[in-house]
Amino acid sequence: MRRILVIGAAGQIGSELVPELRKKYGNDNVIATGRKTPLPDEVKENGPVIYLDALEKILLSKVLFEYEIDTIFHMASILSAVGEKMPQAAWNININGLINVLEASRAYGIKTLIWPSSIAAFGPTTPRENTPNTTILEPTTMYGISKVAGELLCEYYYHKYQLDVRSIRLPGIISSETLPGGGTTDYAVEIFYETIRNKQYTCFLREDTVLPMMYMPDCNKALIDLLEADNSKLKRRVYNITGMSFSAGEIASEIKKHFKEFTIDYKPDFRQEIADSWPKSIDDTLARKEWGWEPMYNLESMTKDMIEKLSKRL
Ligand code: SER
Repeated sequence: MRRILVIGAAGQIGSELVPELRKKYGNDNVIATGRKTPLPDEVKENGPVIYLDALEKILLSKVLFEYEIDTIFHMASILSAVGEKMPQAAWNININGLINVLEASRAYGIKTLIWPSSIAAFGPTTPRENTPNTTILEPTTMYGISKVAGELLCEYYYHKYQLDVRSIRLPGIISSETLPGGGTTDYAVEIFYETIRNKQYTCFLREDTVLPMMYMPDCNKALIDLLEADNSKLKRRVYNITGMSFSAGEIASEIKKHFKEFTIDYKPDFRQEIADSWPKSIDDTLARKEWGWEPMYNLESMTKDMIEKLSKRL
């Protein structure tokens, strides 16, 4: 049985990953950590919860030691849009946080560390259609820069210290439980909340903006499958993965199939430039080949499920 630490359990992904992990590995074996944002009730009530700031080295060591942790999901990060408002903080949390976790993992013999990279690691010089795993990485956002540096650090720690660190480049994640905190792909979550509440949405990206996306159940599956993958099959530390690609106009049309009254207008802001620097679609053949990645949801099935879940809750 594993002893798992989830850093950043209040976030969009962490808050849904913790319950999934607890189902699989047992409630008491999954320690959820937060710093400022309150943790969801489901996370608080069903297993251990502690305060942890990944920037505090001593605290991090204390937690790994006292809870006998052998597996870490390091999910705490400042996303792309907020990162452009405070680039120094984004670097600090994303990179200094990661180095602390890598160092503590090395010192305490952590068996596996999972850390998400992002499509933000790509930039305007990267081929935008069917972006390959190995390609040009020249991002123009601080978030993207921190992801590229992070990927290189993970490779470095694997080769230099044999620390088993694994990473996936996540696309935009669409989820129904916790709102994302300040990314460029957030529109694809907000659009559902506004549909249910007001039947109207003003999108901060242009209608024809196409981005790679993934539904949360697929994201959880990818993270857990990567954790359980046989290391001898992994030929690299960082993998492209994707669930679907659509434009803002296409998701709006899909929503209209369920709500005829739904209307959308487009007022692109500073996030448009970020979106324009990212791929439209991702080639995830290597993840499929090396650890059996396969998404369950497409635009149609994701939209149906999001509407069902949010209609019940809101
Ligand atoms: N969802 C992230 C963002 O928009 C991409 O990794 O910043």
